[in-house]
Amino acid sequence: MERLENIRLSEGGDSLIILDQTKLPGEVCFTELKSREELVEAIRKLRVRGAPAIGIAAAYGYYLCAREDMDKEDFLSRMDDAERLLASSRPTAVNLFWALSRMRAVLRRSAFRPRGEILQLLLNEAYAIHEEDISANLNISEYGLSLLKDGACVLTHCNAGPLATSRYGTALGPILLAKERGMNISVFADETRPLLQGARLTAFELMNAGVDVTLICDNMAGQVMKEGKIDAVFIGCDRAAANGDAANKIGSSSLAVLAKHYGIPFYMFAPLSTVDMDTPCGDMIRIEQRDPTEVTELYFAERMAPAGVKVYNPAFDVVDHELITGIVTEEGVITAPFEENFKAAFDKKKQRTVTNNA
Ligand code: MRU
Repeated sequence: MERLENIRLSEGGDSLIILDQTKLPGEVCFTELKSREELVEAIRKLRVRGAPAIGIAAAYGYYLCAREDMDKEDFLSRMDDAERLLASSRPTAVNLFWALSRMRAVLRRSAFRPRGEILQLLLNEAYAIHEEDISANLNISEYGLSLLKDGACVLTHCNAGPLATSRYGTALGPILLAKERGMNISVFADETRPLLQGARLTAFELMNAGVDVTLICDNMAGQVMKEGKIDAVFIGCDRAAANGDAANKIGSSSLAVLAKHYGIPFYMFAPLSTVDMDTPCGDMIRIEQRDPTEVTELYFAERMAPAGVKVYNPAFDVVDHELITGIVTEEGVITAPFEENFKAAFDKKKQRTVTNNA
């Protein structure tokens, strides 16, 4: 499959080019984001989406704000405002805040340097965040693939493929890697109400890669599990708390309960940039609430619910750690006790980075 580059800086380095995911699968359309307001709108409207992709976009966005404000006298306080604005785009995926805090740290460390140097260091950091995600995707895909036998069938939810990240994706990574290696893994993809990331994006990515994918409505997952069709559930993650509770697209928690009932292994996929050790447990993760019209009319030819009906539209839910077989990271498959094992994974990553840089 031709690789679609979902996020990149423009040639002149003064704007961000994104693949507009709201237009898929009908149209492959690249949009140029020239201002911080346009970037915030693109994240809010899910033109660019998926936890790692949001973090990467925000890192480039921070750099672009610095480039624009560099010559202003109150540069540092303007950058604080820019960070607040970018951080306000979506609340649940921790990668957004993680990437912004890495960018802020570079700015703070280099604030005494000439502005041109600061800008170069910020650009380097944005590139590093992007590159690290590509390499995390590869490791995650390898670890994920080690959990599957040739001929296995995986159920997935939402979209945790290349569009949501930077290369192979997380939960879809093992499946795409398997395809490259001539293995035969098939997939049931939940359509993922209300914004249909499964129907629009996962089905698109897997079909383009030649993977055998079957689309189901979210409420059919229990039936395909009961029929014995599913060997494992593989889904992404927007924020894992220190105790292993993990937020992902709404519907993930009910899938985990179903998987437990039917004795099916339930894996979540998260680069360590999605693991938030500052959030002790899932109850403390802020769940994004979205526009009711996404439930009542978006994607329908006409409104499907009476005008004025009360709607509850949480975009994410939290899977209790007891229901998770393992969280697949670039440092291996983390199992309970999660807090202890996350710490070991962070240490391992640090060690590996030091060795690689030596
Ligand atoms: O609202 P979205 O489409 O940004 O939600 C995305 C998900 O829930 C993904 O599973 C998650 O971000 C992981 S992407 C590798």
